[in-house]
Amino acid sequence: MSCRFPARRILTATALVVFLGTAPVAAVVAAESAAATMERGHYLATAGNCTSCHTREGGQPFTGGLAFATPFGTLYSTNITPDVDTGIGKWSEQEFARAIRAGVRPNGEHLYPAFPYPAFTKLTDEDVAALFAYLKSLAPVKYAAPANELRFPFNQRWTLGMWKMLYFLEGRFTPDVARSAEWNRGAYLVEGLGHCGACHSPRNFLGAESSDLAMSGGEYSDKVAEGTVRSWSTPNLTAAPDGLHSWPVEDLAAYLKTGRNTFAETYGPMNEVIMNSTRHLSDADVHAMATYLKGLPDNKVKVPANANADVLQAGETLYNVHCGTCHLPTGLGGDAESSGARLAGNPVVQAGNPASLINIILYGPQLPNPPLPKRWKLMEGFGDKLADDEVAALASFLRSAWGNVGGAVSTDQVAKQR
Ligand code: HEC
Ligand code: HEC
Ligand code: HEC
Repeated sequence: MSCRFPARRILTATALVVFLGTAPVAAVVAAESAAATMERGHYLATAGNCTSCHTREGGQPFTGGLAFATPFGTLYSTNITPDVDTGIGKWSEQEFARAIRAGVRPNGEHLYPAFPYPAFTKLTDEDVAALFAYLKSLAPVKYAAPANELRFPFNQRWTLGMWKMLYFLEGRFTPDVARSAEWNRGAYLVEGLGHCGACHSPRNFLGAESSDLAMSGGEYSDKVAEGTVRSWSTPNLTAAPDGLHSWPVEDLAAYLKTGRNTFAETYGPMNEVIMNSTRHLSDADVHAMATYLKGLPDNKVKVPANANADVLQAGETLYNVHCGTCHLPTGLGGDAESSGARLAGNPVVQAGNPASLINIILYGPQLPNPPLPKRWKLMEGFGDKLADDEVAALASFLRSAWGNVGGAVSTDQVAKQR
């Protein structure tokens, strides 16, 4: 994808304010040819990863029907191709903007926040217009998603009005003039279109993201096979020691652009985020996202105490037998083909909730599709070889060795991931 549009936004902070805040939007849009607007809309749809959520397995892109398992029941994404009966063919640009930014349908119904409008509300008018132009340019496809299967009272859309009063603030992105243009561009992408917080911020019992603990790690459920849903945890994306502290900006940018860096590789739900979205963004944009994330103040999570010395000793022995050949006794991993990811200072290893760490130990990595070019030998899962208490001891060891600060993992937490 060309860097033309993103590059245009790398202006000075002052110019950015003028551009985002007071530029006459209609004039800006009119000056751009329809084709250029559509191309930009395509880029923005990629940055927002609309396809990952609006495409069911085997279905045409943007036609919806993908199921979301929530604590309140199952919800389906909708058809956003311009079909007049089942898609957004009859919608005006204003109606589309209201859905994207306020979570309201043309008929006044509220939308569920599984659709990340709490993040998309930050989009500029210009970007919403370009997204709409792009979706309208797609071939209309007739397809209606199955009806939601949500429990009462969550199946009542009007209750979402109350949810919004409590937890949703409509509003645009406001640049921070004290920060660089790059930081602001990164903030716009991470907090807005990229909706990283949808998975990386903890949520309360009603599914609202916690603003105090923003980006400090959350949870996510993903379908791994027909009928099987696995829960995952997300690491802390602030610069805290249990987060991105040990990853330089360049490595974070490389991870988003290529799915790997000096330290690690994507192996779970990040596969889709990277393969469908961030790897298609310009180098300048992924660098801006990394710059913004690395500038977030430490948001430390409460860490449970370390396991007792016997458990840690047992964990270390298991590590030396099963893992140390590839990850090395130092936990540093390395570049050799027989080596593996760096576990010292690793965000996933230290994440407050150990679900994703347990997943890779039990099942091995879930490879992206298409897989990344070969680098390391495949890590196999240890689910057959290790009992739950052994996995817990091993994980507890990883989370306290080499300066890591994750705390103990219990046998119950391992059993939950089986
Ligand atoms: C994390 C998953 C997710 C992502 C990413 C996502 N959507 Fe959605 N979207 C949904 C779900 C789920 C619904 C249905 C919500 C409901 O029924 O209340 C939805 C609904 C919508 C609707 C309302 C449609 C209707 O018929 O009422 C529009 C418009 C929409 N999405 C557009 C987009 C666009 C444009 C993007 C990319 C910029 C996008 N979505 C990205 C999950 C997602
Ligand atoms: C659909 C949920 C989801 C979304 C959206 C998401 N992430 Fe993640 N992220 C995860 C999960 C789960 C993991 C841990 C396992 C993995 O590799 O998938 C993770 C891991 C990471 C890691 C650490 C990798 C490692 O190996 O230590 C980084 C960095 C990251 N995500 C950045 C981002 C950024 C930046 C965004 C926004 C563009 C984002 N994520 C959006 C679910 C998500
Ligand atoms: C054959 C070499 C090999 C062995 C043995 C091995 N691993 Fe791995 N490990 C890897 C490779 C390669 C990766 C990167 C995989 C990927 O993300 O696709 C990895 C990734 C990981 C990660 C994810 C790191 C991240 O941020 O993405 C963790 C955690 C991990 N291994 C723990 C372990 C543990 C614990 C054991 C022992 C029970 C073990 N590994 C055994 C090679 C190995």
